[in-house]
Amino acid sequence: MADDGTIGAVRAHRIWDSRGRPTVEVEVELADGTIGRGIAPAGASRGEHEAIDLRDGGEAHGGQGVRAAVDNVHREIAPALVGRDALDQAGIDRGLIALDGTPNLARLGGNATIATSMAVLHAAAALRGVPLWRHLAGGCEASLPMPEIQVFGGGAHAGRRLDVQDLLAMPLDAASFDEALSMCADVYHAAGAIMASRGRLAGVADEGGWWPDFASNEQAIATLAEAIERSGHAGRVAISLDVAASEFFADGRYRLALDGREHDTDGWIEAMLRWIDRYPIASIEDPVSERDRAGMAAFTRAAGDRIQVIGDDFLVTSAARVEAAIAEGCCNAVLVKPNQAGTITGALEALERARDAGWGTIVSARSGETEDTTIVHLAVGWNAGQLKVGSFARSERMAKWNEGLRIERSTPGLRFAGRDALPACAARRTR
Ligand code: PGA
Ligand code: ZN
Repeated sequence: MADDGTIGAVRAHRIWDSRGRPTVEVEVELADGTIGRGIAPAGASRGEHEAIDLRDGGEAHGGQGVRAAVDNVHREIAPALVGRDALDQAGIDRGLIALDGTPNLARLGGNATIATSMAVLHAAAALRGVPLWRHLAGGCEASLPMPEIQVFGGGAHAGRRLDVQDLLAMPLDAASFDEALSMCADVYHAAGAIMASRGRLAGVADEGGWWPDFASNEQAIATLAEAIERSGHAGRVAISLDVAASEFFADGRYRLALDGREHDTDGWIEAMLRWIDRYPIASIEDPVSERDRAGMAAFTRAAGDRIQVIGDDFLVTSAARVEAAIAEGCCNAVLVKPNQAGTITGALEALERARDAGWGTIVSARSGETEDTTIVHLAVGWNAGQLKVGSFARSERMAKWNEGLRIERSTPGLRFAGRDALPACAARRTR
C-alpha cells in the first residue's frame, strides 16, 4: 500500500458557478492530509454525445440542483476510491467509468466524475510538491498556449441575439503569453469603444464578450475586424469563430434567425467560405451541425487547407470520435473540454489521438465556470498549444488568464507555443 498517495477521504459539496447555478466541488484528502480540489464546469450549448451533467430537475434552482451528483460521490465514488493510490490517475479514472457502467456517465453524472478526477489530480501534484502543469508534463515538453479570446458572445451565451456563438481574437504574432494577452486586451477594448460609439454597448454575454447588438452575423465579424484595425494590431491578430452550428440546424437546414436566411449544407458552407475570403479568419469551430458528418467532411475539404477546423460538439472530447473523424477527413483540430469526457484521462486520450494525427489541440473552458484554474495547467502540462477560456472580463475567466501569466513568470525558458500551435495552413493566415 502506498503510504504516500493513499486516498483517505473523498467529500463533495454544492457550490455555485459563474451563472449563479449549482455545481459540484470534490475534495480528495490523502492519508498524510494533503488535499486536492476540483470543480465541475457546465456548458450551455452541449454536444449530444458528451458525458451527462446530472441535474436534479424539479422546481428548485430551475431544476439545476446537484444533490444527486453530490450524493453519488459520497455513496458510491468515495467508498470505491478510499485506499487507492492518487498517483494512479488512469486507473482511478477507468474505475470511475466502470463504476458508472453507462456509456455517457449518466448514472453517477459526468459532473460528479470530472470533479473527482480533477481533485485526485490536484492531490497527486500537491503530494509531489510540484505545480500541476509540471506534474502533468512529467519529463516531457510543456508550453504556454496561444490564447483564443472571445470579443463578442452570441448563440446560447447571449439569448441567441446572434446566431454565431463566439467571435474570438487569436494573437498570432505574439512572442509570449504575456504579449498575447496584452494584444487581446487591446482588441477587446477597441471593440467595446466601437460598440459605445454606435450606441450599441449593452454589457457582456455569459463568457464576458460584449453583448452582440448587430444587424447581421457578418456585421459582427466585420466589427471584430474593425476592432483589430483600431487596436493597432492589424495583420498580427486573426479572427476565430465558434459557429456552434448544431444550435441553428434542423431538418437539413441552417436557419440564421438574425439574417432572416436559411441554407442547405452547401449554401451554408459557401457563405462561410466568403467570410474566410473577406476577413482574416484563421480558425472555425463547429462550422456545421454535429449531425452533419458529410457537411463537416465537405467543409474540411474546402477550407482545411487554409484554416483550422475545430470539432467541439462534433467530437465531444472523445478519442473514438476523433479517430472516426480522422478516418472520414473531418476537422483538423480538437477542442478538449475535460467535462465532456467526464475524466482527466479520457480528455488526455482524445488530445493524444488528435496530436498523433498532426491536428491542432485546444484545451477549453465551458460557458459556466468558476475560479478553478485546472484547465490552464492541462494546456501547459499537456503541451496542447492552444487555450480557449472565454473573454477578457469576469473573474472566472481572468483567474485562468492570470494563472497562465503566473506560470510564465515563474518558469523562465518555458516555451510559448505561438502561431505554430495551429495547423500549418492556418498559422500562415496573418503572415
Ligand atoms: P458551452 O459552449 O460551454 O456553453 O457548451 C462553449 C463552446 O461551444 O465552446
Ligand atoms: Zn464550441
